[in-house]
Amino acid sequence: MHDGGVLVTGGAGFIGSHLVDQLVSLGRRVVVLDDLSTGHRENLAPHADRVVFMEGGVEAPELCRRACEGVSDVFHLASRVSVVESIESPDLYREVVLQGTRNVLRAAEEAGVRRLVLASSCSVYGDAAPPISEEASLDPRSPYAAFKAEAEQACREAAVSTVCPRFFNVYGPRQRADSPYSGVIAIFARMAAASKSPTIFGDGLQTRDFIHVADVVRGLLLASGASAVGAGEPINFGTGVGTTVLELASLLGCRAPVFEAAREGEVRHSAADPGLARERLGFESRIALQSGLADLA
Ligand SMILES: NC(=O)c1ccc[n+]([C@@H]2O[C@H](COP(=O)([O-])OP(=O)(O)OC[C@H]3O[C@@H](n4cnc5c(N)ncnc54)[C@H](O)[C@@H]3O)[C@@H](O)[C@H]2O)c1
Repeated sequence: MHDGGVLVTGGAGFIGSHLVDQLVSLGRRVVVLDDLSTGHRENLAPHADRVVFMEGGVEAPELCRRACEGVSDVFHLASRVSVVESIESPDLYREVVLQGTRNVLRAAEEAGVRRLVLASSCSVYGDAAPPISEEASLDPRSPYAAFKAEAEQACREAAVSTVCPRFFNVYGPRQRADSPYSGVIAIFARMAAASKSPTIFGDGLQTRDFIHVADVVRGLLLASGASAVGAGEPINFGTGVGTTVLELASLLGCRAPVFEAAREGEVRHSAADPGLARERLGFESRIALQSGLADLA
């Protein structure tokens, strides 16, 4: 069915490298374009001889063009990923998240790519009330979220078939715990392992929809192949279950948390309505949080 190679931008990162694992095991020829700003070459080490690695940024149109040569499918995951950093450096985020997406889209169009899947984010919804469906009005509250929303729009206007999964809170092995921008699960797991108290901002009763990276990868592959999408549709990738941060700390066996003032602008409750993903892609998460947490390495 697929003759050409697959380009994974951001393929040296957390989610991207899990996707590359799957694509390689399916026998696909994989090209990774990544500037290693938060990704690691070691994430791709098991496939060193089977993956073409191009080091560089999606801000460079010519590099995007070269990365798309001979490629039939694109997964565009390369992005700066920090809400806080985006507030400090909005121009960087415009360049990477929005212009980078435009560059990859243009290169994909020129290469005659079959479909491009954009990694978007539930942050585009702002503080919408759960369960959040794709019909909810957008309320991006940071440059990161605003440029993701604009990047989705660029997909809808492109001449290539596209789809825009909106990831909720993704977790799993290889997620970085070494920066303040990391996912809460990676940070709490590290604190639990070190027998240190985690810090909770606010009262800990805020909820998040945590979805395992293996589920997200399965959803991405379905999104790439599904005939019921292709016009840049946003599709939620979440479980539909909200978990409080306090519950999470307890599931991970953390010591009693230290509480600090809530972060300004933080979303209070978040959980996906996963109905459209089920309907259009036949995608449903399978890994319950408790068993997914046991899998952290
Ligand atoms: N992890 C989550 O919970 C979550 C939630 C919503 C959306 N997303 C989206 O999923 C995608 C992957 O995120 P992740 O969690 O794996 O983070 P990550 O930081 O591990 O992966 C991002 C990858 O993109 C690379 N990159 C960054 N800027 C680049 C650039 N200019 N050019 C080329 N490569 C660049 C990084 O080096 C890294 O390998 C991102 O688009 C992110 O916005 C993630």
